[in-house]
Amino acid sequence: MYLRQNVQVEPLVDQWYAWPHLLSPATAARNITERHMKIMDSYISAPQIHANAVKNPKMLAGPFTDHDGKRVNEIKALRDRIKQERAHMFELSKAFQALEDYLRTKAKGYSLQPLYPGIPAILRGYVELVYDLNNHPSYKLVEALLYKSKYYDRSAQSVMLSLTASDDRPFVLSTPRLPDDRSLHVQAPFCHDSVDQLFQLKSVSREFKEIKEILGMNGNGKQDELLRSFLTEEPPKPYKPYTGTGVRWRYFGHACILIETGGTSIMFDPMLSYTYESNISRYTYNDLPDCIDYVLITHNHQDHILFETLLQIRHKVKHIIVPRNSGGFLQDPSLELMLKNAGFKQVLSLDIMQEVPINNGTIVGLPFFGEHSDLSIGTKLAYLIRTKKHSLMFAADSCNIEPKLYAHLHREIGDVDALFLGMECDGAPLTWLYGPLLTQRIERAMDESRRLAGSNYEQAISMVNELNCKEVYVYAMGQEPWLNYISSLKYTETSRPIVDSNRLLETCRDRGIPGERLFGEREILMD
Ligand SMILES: [Fe+2]
Ligand SMILES: [Fe+2]
Repeated sequence: MYLRQNVQVEPLVDQWYAWPHLLSPATAARNITERHMKIMDSYISAPQIHANAVKNPKMLAGPFTDHDGKRVNEIKALRDRIKQERAHMFELSKAFQALEDYLRTKAKGYSLQPLYPGIPAILRGYVELVYDLNNHPSYKLVEALLYKSKYYDRSAQSVMLSLTASDDRPFVLSTPRLPDDRSLHVQAPFCHDSVDQLFQLKSVSREFKEIKEILGMNGNGKQDELLRSFLTEEPPKPYKPYTGTGVRWRYFGHACILIETGGTSIMFDPMLSYTYESNISRYTYNDLPDCIDYVLITHNHQDHILFETLLQIRHKVKHIIVPRNSGGFLQDPSLELMLKNAGFKQVLSLDIMQEVPINNGTIVGLPFFGEHSDLSIGTKLAYLIRTKKHSLMFAADSCNIEPKLYAHLHREIGDVDALFLGMECDGAPLTWLYGPLLTQRIERAMDESRRLAGSNYEQAISMVNELNCKEVYVYAMGQEPWLNYISSLKYTETSRPIVDSNRLLETCRDRGIPGERLFGEREILMD
């Protein structure tokens, strides 16, 4: 039997959706205390407010739990269990608060050496104290050792399987997953072989008995029945790889694009729809090659690095390339460590202007400015795919805050044949994503001014000009309805990202530069 193509898989950490900041130990500690606890406390005391808020489109992606206001006792039990079992994570979170308060009051530009004994005990040995050149104190985490400690607990990881038949799915980052009759909860750390064996079942069949063994199920009855409903005898349709001499690229939605050239396959920011009937046609898990040579991650935002998809395709992926981080800042966890600790084998960190040779060409890491609320974050790269005949640039949410960058870049890489650029130019304020990491309140006006915003019209057209782009594609706009559970963006014709991207495409058209805003599904062949 095969696993059905519409089995949905939610990776969880203590029943909360496993997004990247919930995997790296330090950011997880802060998110448990500053996000999850607050949401659960608020739901327990006023469930109806949550039930109403999730129905209000203006509150989409807000801190509200989508459980109809009716599951207070279960949320209470979950909260109490987490408080008890993850007490050490609460201590870790508190220690970051204490360390930052300590540095704010004691580190005044003189040697930091005498301050080491006063570091919160549980952080000693895990942090090095540093100044920047203007005597602003900070600290660098030894993240690799934190992953080896009790603060990275694989036993909290699990996957929840259920059948899905539509794009309708609640926003996952503010609603913990509770058990129900339609879902099979598999306790398995993400690094476990059984995770790969399970997802191989979408393309390789096994006996029912073996599948039960993979899932560690030894009973009979209801669970068996549920598992059977996830399986089918129907094999998936075979994949036809591209065999031409140029490049074929396919858009899978948002920032997910598959490139095939010279026998090499490259997939950007994997995020796939399951396969079910819909009036919006799309590529899905069912349209993947048997082997993906390179997965490339542009940056550490939850709509670009999605463990739900990554875990399901891991058995097909040869290498994952991620941007190298700036080394130990709380806001900038290492994707290399995160992926390796979650069981991914060939993970490569790439630097700016560093290259990886492929058949027929190279992958080049390019600078990515902005879109991270001016925080010092190194984990972001645009990429150039250069083949013998073509150059394609994937800029993701790069915000062209400094056009000179692209003038310098043009001298190095020359003209770009096809530019792929995100234009989510409104963006959320700093606290929406990074709030739990802050140990000091930030003024509202300051917060609002520091956004997670991509390029607007002026910034995008200047990029097109500097790089002398021959084709322009706007992507990563979060518009596909099957992404609502993670992206939560709903634009109208008057929203700035739509107005600005329309204007960009019109200007390009006037100049004879073909382009479009990608939506749903698209395939282009470059000879
Ligand atoms: Fe982003
Ligand atoms: Fe994005």
